[in-house]
Amino acid sequence: MQAIQSYITKNKDRFLNELINLLKIPSISADSAYKNDVFKAAEVIRSSLENAGCDHVEICETDGYPIVYGEKIIDKNLPTVLVYGHYDVQPPDPLDLWNSPPFEPVIQKTDIHPEGAIFARGASDDKGQVYMHVKALEYMTTHNELPCNVKFMIEGEEEVGSVNLGKFVASNKEKLTNDVILISDTGMIAKGIPSITTGLRGLSYVEVEVTGPNRDLHSGLYGGAVANPINILAKMIASLHDENNHITIPGFYDKVENLSDEERAEMAKAPFSLDDYKKALDIEAVYGEKGYTTNERNSIRPTLDVNGIWGGYTGEGAKTVIASKAYAKISMRLVPHQDWEEITELFKTHFERIAPAGVKVKVTPHHGGQGYVTPTNFNGYKAAAKAYEKTFGQVPIPERSGGSIPIVALFEKELDSKTILMGFGLDSDAIHSPNEHFGIGNYLKGIETIPWFYKYYSEMKG
Ligand code: BES
Ligand code: MN
Ligand code: MN
Repeated sequence: MQAIQSYITKNKDRFLNELINLLKIPSISADSAYKNDVFKAAEVIRSSLENAGCDHVEICETDGYPIVYGEKIIDKNLPTVLVYGHYDVQPPDPLDLWNSPPFEPVIQKTDIHPEGAIFARGASDDKGQVYMHVKALEYMTTHNELPCNVKFMIEGEEEVGSVNLGKFVASNKEKLTNDVILISDTGMIAKGIPSITTGLRGLSYVEVEVTGPNRDLHSGLYGGAVANPINILAKMIASLHDENNHITIPGFYDKVENLSDEERAEMAKAPFSLDDYKKALDIEAVYGEKGYTTNERNSIRPTLDVNGIWGGYTGEGAKTVIASKAYAKISMRLVPHQDWEEITELFKTHFERIAPAGVKVKVTPHHGGQGYVTPTNFNGYKAAAKAYEKTFGQVPIPERSGGSIPIVALFEKELDSKTILMGFGLDSDAIHSPNEHFGIGNYLKGIETIPWFYKYYSEMKG
């Protein structure tokens, strides 16, 4: 494995250019106008896996976007690592807030990345991180240093809930058998400070519709005399948190696991500056559930947030109108043991119950998934920790993340294997936001670290 550093130095420009080509494809899974581009990105992933040395690569069609599957089986008696990632990306809007077009990647220096960062939608989430694995495989196959079997499963629907991947996994258990699942689709604590993500939150995503009168009304002639669905929706949403910012849905916290004082003290040891946090977001104060720190609020505690709200007149100038309907999209981030389907039901029942007479309420569930916690005492975690220590010179810090990759819990259920989340992104990467970027240093460090994981994992298993 000693040649990995010089291989990266020699091939750095090619590694960047190949990723840039992938980033040029607007593979936005949420927007059907980009359907052909999503398929095109799958094709690029397929050929990249072939070029990196997979023996067998196929595009597996689904009812939605395809799953790219690739493998290199060197010996049935050796362990198998299954790499998962996604080639679809979030919509790039609002476009006017990007400093350069989201699908015309540019390299720019930043304070955190003096060596440069690639700016493009998907740079960090998740094309850049998927491509680290492709290039790590290329290194291992070209240097005859692949110590175990490897399977790749790269999907195109992660950003829209992985609905078809769930079916694919359930009906291809044999094909997907593995000893450990390896994913780079999360972040690390800070540049140069390695960490391993040990938890993901679950998710329940719903849309609500409040209907008042059967048509839009003159707000002078009718205002004050009928329920205004936008006023009502705002009131209903406001009531979902109490004065301590606890969520008021009955039963919502019933299955939430409370961490012990020791576990919370352990968490508080992770490097974190509240001042830097506020500065980075240009806010005077943080805000959240009483009794918990910022890092607890965004990882081990469940949340409820409005992601979008609309209705009535939002065009130029003023129009005096009481809308017939008001809408909101609401996400609830869940912690392990909270069941997302149960929470969705609790939400629905509660939201319908608190609606006053004079409006009708409709709750439509979108998608969801369970949370996940990775143990730190099994060989997958130990191998990953050793790999980080090798390339960063520091033991990685275990860290529970607030984000969700719902399919991870399903992997455990269907394939009976644990997932190691080796993320190389940073909070400042602006994933899902304008000006998403991925530090070149992070990208190359990922390529360097991954082969060590394979080596140590194989040794520990063997
Ligand atoms: N890669 C992210 C999740 C993530 C990012 C986890 C950073 C931890 C740290 C993933 O692509 C994502 O955006 N997931 C969605 C859920 C999905 C069902 C749309 C999310 O968390 O909002
Ligand atoms: Mn992702
Ligand atoms: Mn994402």
